[in-house]
Formats: sequence, C-alpha cells, structure tokens
Amino acid sequence: MSETQDSYTIRDLAEEVRRQMSIHGSDGPKLLDGLRDPISRILASDLSNVGVKREGNHIDESRYLYYDGEMSITFDHLPKDKDIPPHDHGTWETLAIYSGQLRHTVYDRKDDGGTEGYAELGVIDDRVLDCKDMAIVAPPADIHSFTALTDDTWSVTVVGGRYGVDRAYYQPDTNSYVRLNPKRQKIV
Ligand SMILES: [Fe+2]
Repeated sequence: MSETQDSYTIRDLAEEVRRQMSIHGSDGPKLLDGLRDPISRILASDLSNVGVKREGNHIDESRYLYYDGEMSITFDHLPKDKDIPPHDHGTWETLAIYSGQLRHTVYDRKDDGGTEGYAELGVIDDRVLDCKDMAIVAPPADIHSFTALTDDTWSVTVVGGRYGVDRAYYQPDTNSYVRLNPKRQKIV
C-alpha cells in the first residue's frame, strides 16, 4: 500500500464532504473547489479491491465506498460507448475520473419549468474528462449526460444526498422530458 492510501481514507473524505456541505450547502462550484484536493488523494490510492457491490442506475458495475443513508461515495465502471442521456438528480453529484476518459456534458434549464414534459436545455460545460479530472452537477444545473470513451473508465462519484425518486430524462432534440424512476424502469 502506498503512503497516500494509508494516510488518507474514504472516511476522511466522507468527513470532509460533510464539512464542505456545512459550509457551502449545495453550491456546486464552491463544493468542487473544496473537494478537489481530498478527492484527488483518494484518486491516487488503489481502489481495485475495495467497496461493496451496489445496484447502479445506468451501469453494471458500481461499488459503495461509503454510504450513510444520505451521502454516498461510489466507485463506478462506466461502459465504453454507452450514451447515458441527459438526466437530473435532485441533489448534487461529483464525478472524478480514476482511470480512462469520459465525455461529459452539463446542462441547465432555459425554460421556467412551468410546463410538465417541456424543457429547454442549455449546455454550460462540455468536455472530455481525463484521469484525475472532475466535474460537478448541482441544482439548479444538476443535469448531465456522458459517454465513456475507453474500456477502463472508472469514476469516484460523490453524491451529497438522496437522489430524487422520479427523475427527469431529457430529449434535447424535441425540448421534452419524461419522469422515470431508474430503479423501476429500464432507462437505457
Ligand atoms: Fe447522473
């Protein structure tokens, strides 16, 4: 085990997430600023044999590194070339790339949200995340889509609270969305 792995643990990261949330609430950019260093320390450790199997929403291989009933830290294998369509979360979520490459797009709503089923999305961040890169989605801009570009794309994903029960899945081409429960219905 490396020095880094011994000296900075998942519990340390979880405590730091809680501390940052108590300071910044769900302010995405500020949370990401505060979490960049602690998450980087976890990315530098060997995660190949840690975690507990979890049922992922869009993916086949996901492991809990930490879960306390609200906040979670997971280690997720993102399947190559599988387009995960734009969706929201109802809470903030950070993706940090442990290995591989991820095309990642963040959106916000341009409409007023007043018409059920209708949504105009605007792209506010669209880039390829390389190893060690991070992105955050946080309400009101908690919508993202992504596609892994390599076979070995793994993410350390930190989620600040429970996901919304019914989450919106968007079709930007038609300015529309549907509400789906990822646990009950096959989304992609
Ligand atoms: Fe997501």
